Amino acid sequence: MRKKIVAGNWKMNMSFEEGIRFAKSIDQYFREKPPVRAEVILCTPFIHLSGVSEIVKGGNVSLGAQNCASEASGAYTGEVSAYMIKSTGAEYVIIGHSERRTIFHEDDKQLNKKTVLALNSGLKVIFCCGEVKEQREEGNHFIIVKRQIEEGLFTLRAEEMKNIIIAYEPVWAIGTGLTATPDQAQEIHKYIRGLVKEKYGTKIADEIIILYGGSVKSSNAAEIFSNADVDGGLIGGASLKKEDFISIVEAV
Ligand code: PGA
Repeated sequence: MRKKIVAGNWKMNMSFEEGIRFAKSIDQYFREKPPVRAEVILCTPFIHLSGVSEIVKGGNVSLGAQNCASEASGAYTGEVSAYMIKSTGAEYVIIGHSERRTIFHEDDKQLNKKTVLALNSGLKVIFCCGEVKEQREEGNHFIIVKRQIEEGLFTLRAEEMKNIIIAYEPVWAIGTGLTATPDQAQEIHKYIRGLVKEKYGTKIADEIIILYGGSVKSSNAAEIFSNADVDGGLIGGASLKKEDFISIVEAV
């Protein structure tokens, strides 16, 4: 049985104080009532990482960042490296989120570089892929996702894939209130697992965790998570509200 994961992506929200207060309340909840079926990850802005790391230490919540630099170190003003993220106590980093791909023009090659740096720094990578609306309407979603996965991940060695989590996030569903239907999610998750199988074999394909993201809410989480190849979710908007986030975790 694969482990399930529910990861909250706070995006660019909350002051330092607000984030600390929020992380404390989530951490406390899951200390008293440990999540039984899913690992819970909070992916915070960089400035919150070391503070939240202190809070979640020894508890039942893990910590991740939302991005890292595509260089290891040096004169890159404003950037934060994978090594720096790891030093805060964070275990995970999201790479290739559609907002990074679209707004910040990060391409497959750069995302592959970031993935390699993150793994080399000892982080686990939540690698995002997903098509935009027109690509789905034209029936090109499989081709797009295949390219993103092949170029972003398939230079990795088999043993490195153990530290990769894939998040399928159709761009048309992110923050829009639209969600892939359970059948649409299952279809493409199965396809992604098939790609991993072709490249790395059955064992790695069976073990790799594939999350769904895009307008997951407490009202639709259980249905989406019930699909055989959906191993949890990457949650944006609903991860900023304690009750919503907790009920999504409990829907697993
Ligand atoms: P959303 O975001 O849940 O607000 O749609 C998901 C994501 O961008 O990871």
